[in-house]
Amino acid sequence: MTEVTVDTIFEALETSGQVQYGTEPITELEHALQIADIADEMSGDEEMILAALLHDIGRVAVRQDEISDTLVPDHMGKTKDGSKGHDAAGAELLSDYFSDRILAGIRMHVAAKRYLCTVEPKYRDKISGGSETTLRMQGGLMSDEELEKFRATPFSEDAVQIRRWDDMAKIPGKPTRPLEHWRDMMSRHMQK
Ligand SMILES: [Fe+2]
Repeated sequence: MTEVTVDTIFEALETSGQVQYGTEPITELEHALQIADIADEMSGDEEMILAALLHDIGRVAVRQDEISDTLVPDHMGKTKDGSKGHDAAGAELLSDYFSDRILAGIRMHVAAKRYLCTVEPKYRDKISGGSETTLRMQGGLMSDEELEKFRATPFSEDAVQIRRWDDMAKIPGKPTRPLEHWRDMMSRHMQK
């Protein structure tokens, strides 16, 4: 994806309906649509809904052999020079197009998982096997210094919220509204 438009984003998400979401029993698209519905029901906040819908865009619109925390077979956990996690890659892809808050939700949702696993041991017990596997690729638990830095970063609380919804959005066969439902909202929030 070179120029990013609502159409190119939708195309990437649509295509991700053919791709399994890591090791979870649903597709990437089902996961995105489930979390968008949850964000809508629980917050009704458009920036949070879009951050939720787009949080894993780095898994579906960026070449996965350039991603360091992918579970795509053959690339699992292989880190090439300059490769980054799907969180950073997704936020970078969309950096010119969405608000700082939306981008922070995308960029920080993995850090939010590391944060929650560190401060809430019970949270870690509940995450899926796939999330546990990627946690190790993503740096594992946070040091005290990392915890402090995370808390001080703008929108970290939003990222924690998105991360909690992320874990709820892995239900096989759950009905959702279609992707098209979110088109107008995304158009309104795109900055170019
Ligand atoms: Fe996710």
